Amino acid sequence: MTEPTPTPAGWQAVDRYFADTLVGHDPDLEAAVAAQHEAGMPAIEVAPVNAKFLHLLARIAGARRVLEIGTLGGYSTIWLARAVSEGGEVVTIEAEPDNAAVARRSLERAGVAHRVRIEIGRAADVLPRLSGEAPFDLVFIDADKESNTIYLDWAARLGRPGTVIVVDNVARSGKVADAHTTDSQIVGVRAGLEMLGTDPRFDATALQTLDAKGWDGVAVAIVR
Ligand code: DHB
Ligand code: MG
Repeated sequence: MTEPTPTPAGWQAVDRYFADTLVGHDPDLEAAVAAQHEAGMPAIEVAPVNAKFLHLLARIAGARRVLEIGTLGGYSTIWLARAVSEGGEVVTIEAEPDNAAVARRSLERAGVAHRVRIEIGRAADVLPRLSGEAPFDLVFIDADKESNTIYLDWAARLGRPGTVIVVDNVARSGKVADAHTTDSQIVGVRAGLEMLGTDPRFDATALQTLDAKGWDGVAVAIVR
């Protein structure tokens, strides 16, 4: 039997159906995306179905402290802040102060700003400063792909056995499978995945995704 090949029109219709049926519409989230767009940031926030997956993972893990690397306009940050609920905290790192200002306003509009600390700076500089804090229960890595191994190393250091790690953008329209790539982002994504596969601190898998952001994927790991 020949399986049907997914066409863009087909999987886009499925994504819309899933998003409409299971995620729904939310004025604060839609305002955050609009503010991000108006500020000239790229439309590279996670797709709604992917954001809700992240939110559910945080709740499944019972996460109270979440670390996000790459705030952008705060769309995924709002989803994570809702997952930790009252008393929890999201620490989110953003390299661009202008992006952080837009994100802060969107977090305020969504009523979750009191649970979110935005750290402004290059994540490689900010992460060592978080060492003295209580461990994070979930870490979401969604920043410059070239630094994924640095971020995974810090995720393990700042976590504890059982900490959940999620890495965005691990398939990149299939380019991740090209072992000879010279694209620095793909090289970074591959290095991160190979670290997840070989470093004894992690146990991981990855899933391809077809959603509003195209063909990509998400890696999920646990700190041993
Ligand atoms: C890019 C980065 C992202 O985090 C993403 O979700 C999509 C694209 C990029 O740098 O191109
Ligand atoms: Mg991303």
